[in-house]
Parts: sequence; structure tokens; C-alpha cells
Amino acid sequence: MPLGADNHVAVECIDVHRDFQDGSRVIRVLQGTNLKVHRGEFVAVVGASGSGKTTLLNLIGGLDRPTSGQIIVDGTDITALNDEGISAVRRHKVGVLFQDQLLLPIFTALENVEVPMLLDNVPTEERHKRGMNLLEVVGVDHRAQHMPHELSGGMRSRIALARALANDPAILLCDEPTGDLDHTTGGEIIQLMKRLAKEEGRAIIVVTHDPEVAKMTDKILLLRNGVLVEELVTEFFKPSGIDIEEVRAKFQADEEASIGK
Ligand SMILES: Nc1ncnc2c1ncn2[C@@H]1O[C@H](COP(=O)(O)OP(=O)(O)O)[C@@H](O)[C@H]1O
Ligand SMILES: [Mg+2]
Repeated sequence: MPLGADNHVAVECIDVHRDFQDGSRVIRVLQGTNLKVHRGEFVAVVGASGSGKTTLLNLIGGLDRPTSGQIIVDGTDITALNDEGISAVRRHKVGVLFQDQLLLPIFTALENVEVPMLLDNVPTEERHKRGMNLLEVVGVDHRAQHMPHELSGGMRSRIALARALANDPAILLCDEPTGDLDHTTGGEIIQLMKRLAKEEGRAIIVVTHDPEVAKMTDKILLLRNGVLVEELVTEFFKPSGIDIEEVRAKFQADEEASIGK
């Protein structure tokens, strides 16, 4: 059975709260967030800037701890673990693709992909082999020996994606991964992610501002007032509350009326 076909829950957030202290003021960012993502599922999280999208990914990735609530990652409640336990889960089950994690400029494409395996003491030969396989999966194996500065933005994104997959994660977390790519290249990266979810049974959560990206996922979740809602998504993509269809219908009626005159 392909992994994507089972019903395995890869990530579950149960009543997650995250408060930040800002001087004497408490900022309540996540206020009872619930989420469930299965293996093989490709989910978009959208929401206004500052709504807590990155905060949520950091919590799921074990880079931060919630104020309260539970986060289950591939069957393990990471909120019950100490720092060492969390870092082990992160190393073995989670891949992250964040914009601030650039490729290391002094290493080749292949070496960049190998870094997480090197740090995890994977033997040299296996590391090379898996590194090349991953570059092949993302379609840049022919650039394995190139340095990052010799490659296009799209290729660098693919390599960063390969690196995020180096530990064969059950869960891949992406924070605005297409933010600085042109439309076509960004679309290709998202297609690739979709394939990784479907064919390799990974759970992929992608934070995005781009409705075109969100449209390609299985499910769009809107983060608003600290909770995730599924139903209001189309409303989110109406620019400043304007209903495009309504405007279009009005223009059309207007035109028809002027023709009739
Ligand atoms: N470490 C932190 N300390 C204090 N406030 C924070 C911290 N991280 C995030 N915040 C605040 O939490 C809110 C949500 O931030 P963030 O998750 O980055 O939003 P988004 O990714 O949706 O734009 C913002 O108001 C931000 O200022
Ligand atoms: Mg953010």
C-alpha cells in the first residue's frame, strides 16, 4: 500500500495556545488552535501578516513550545518531551523549508543536501547516494557539483527542498517557500511538493500568501483570531472584502444597459 493511502495522522494540534510577553503586555497569538494533517495530505495555511502562521510552524517543528495544549508529531506528544527529546523528533521526523535557511555558499549542491545527514553521522557512501537520489527527485541532479551562486533561484529552492527531505521526514513544513520566486518557478515547486505528499506519503504544510499556491493544495486553512478555520477561505482571498464575481456581474449589467440605450 502506498504510504499516502493510509490514514496515518502525521500532525495533530490540540487546543494550542501561544502567548508572547511584550513588556507588561501579553500578546495572545494562538488561542486554541486545532489541526490534523494526515500523511499524504498537502495543506495550505493562510492568514494576515502577524496572525501567527510562522509561530504555528515553529511549534509543530519543535523550534518553540506552546503556552498550553498538545502537539502530536507522528504519534509522539512533543509537548511532553524535554529539549533533547524534541530535538530528536525534529531531526528524524520533520523537514523545514524556511526562507531564512539559505544554502551554505561554500558547499556544492550535493554537499548542501548532505549536511543534515553529515550531522546525523550517516556513513559517507550512503550519504552521497541519498544526496544524489534527492537531487534527482527535485530534478537538479545534473547540477550536483555546482555552487549555489552558479544556480538560478528556482534551482536553489529545489536544492533547499532536497535538503529538507534529507532525513526522510514524515512532515514537511514550508514557510512561504515561493515568496521570492517568479510565478512559473513557484508553481513548479508547489507541483513538486504535491507529488512528494502524494507519492511519498509525507504530510506537507505550506504557509503562503499566494492564492494560486493555496489553490493547488488539498485543504486551505485560514488562521484568524488565533484559530484555524476552513470555511472562510474564499472570503480571505477576496481583496479588501470585494467580491470579484459581484463586481464582474455589475460591470456586465452596466455594459448591457448601455448597449440597450
Ligand atoms: N518571539 C516572539 N516574541 C514576541 N512576539 C512574537 C514572537 N514571535 C512572534 N511574535 C508575535 O506574534 C505575532 C505572530 O507572528 P508570526 O507568527 O510571525 O505571524 P505571521 O507568520 O502570520 O506573519 C506577531 O504579532 C509577532 O510580533
Ligand atoms: Mg510568517
